[in-house]
Amino acid sequence: MNLKEYSELSRDELIERISRAKKEKNAVVLGHNYQRDEVQRACDILGDSLGLSRYAASTDADIIVFCGVMFMAETAKILAPQKRVFIPEKGAGCPLAAGANMEDVLKLKEKYPDHIVISYVNTTAEVKAVTDICCTSGNAIEVVRSVGEKPVIFLPDENLGMWVKKTLGKQNMILWEGGCYVHQMIRLEHLEAARAKYPEATIIVHPECPYLVVSAADMVGSTSAMFNYVKEHDEHVILGTEIGLIERIIREIPDKKVDWLKPDAVCFNMKQITLPKLARCLEEGFYEVELEEEIRAAAGGAIRRMIEIG
Ligand code: 13P
Ligand code: SF4
Repeated sequence: MNLKEYSELSRDELIERISRAKKEKNAVVLGHNYQRDEVQRACDILGDSLGLSRYAASTDADIIVFCGVMFMAETAKILAPQKRVFIPEKGAGCPLAAGANMEDVLKLKEKYPDHIVISYVNTTAEVKAVTDICCTSGNAIEVVRSVGEKPVIFLPDENLGMWVKKTLGKQNMILWEGGCYVHQMIRLEHLEAARAKYPEATIIVHPECPYLVVSAADMVGSTSAMFNYVKEHDEHVILGTEIGLIERIIREIPDKKVDWLKPDAVCFNMKQITLPKLARCLEEGFYEVELEEEIRAAAGGAIRRMIEIG
């Protein structure tokens, strides 16, 4: 069946086909917190980049379907090479990850041969292959701390790098000039307006937000750290991140009072995954993630070093 035919099916039929194919193929569907509500509902596991990587490394399913952007699906393949990994839309890329290429990283390494290259997981498999240690928003501080006094090249998110640099007071860190278009939209004026309107609220932002926003927030955390904070606390919380996380909060913890710093901060790349595409992926095998073994193995070293740290 083609995508148009899948799109003509009712939601109930799509869900039934998805569940049937999952059972028949011993497949697990992982989904990032920014996925559409209907896609999240069809996922077995939801989480942030770190949690989903850990899950991919440990699952006993034969097939992993990743509802997220390509670097996340690639990370699953890197960690679980013996499994078949699929993504329902191969065009679902992350522009932040696309902003760093292997050749430029190699040039930087040549210029600064004593520097440790630490890459955010929002990078291509090729960039991970020339990286010493990966990190996510959930463990970036621990990963950079783990190299002690050694100088670091940090890529590709400058805001995340700046937050780590300031938090650790680490001077010898070269920051790549990249950023996420979604989190760049969240500005200090949005945070100040929320503070003025709700002075009692706790404001938590993602470290991809501009450093001015990060430094004015009450807390900084990954998407799952935000979800867990809201789950475990009863006060009014205002979140500075992509709005997909709200779908999960409304569904799983509807009694909480949550607002959004920027309700139009939408990652259109994440939203490319739809329920008809997920059904087609499970039934027809579109699209399998394949990596050159040399790249996969080298990238795997950088991700495993991260997982060992935290
Ligand atoms: P998390 O790992 O915090 O979920 O973030 C991933 C991401 O792409 C944020 O833009
Ligand atoms: Fe990439 Fe930003 Fe979308 Fe995250 S929110 S996937 S960093 S574009």
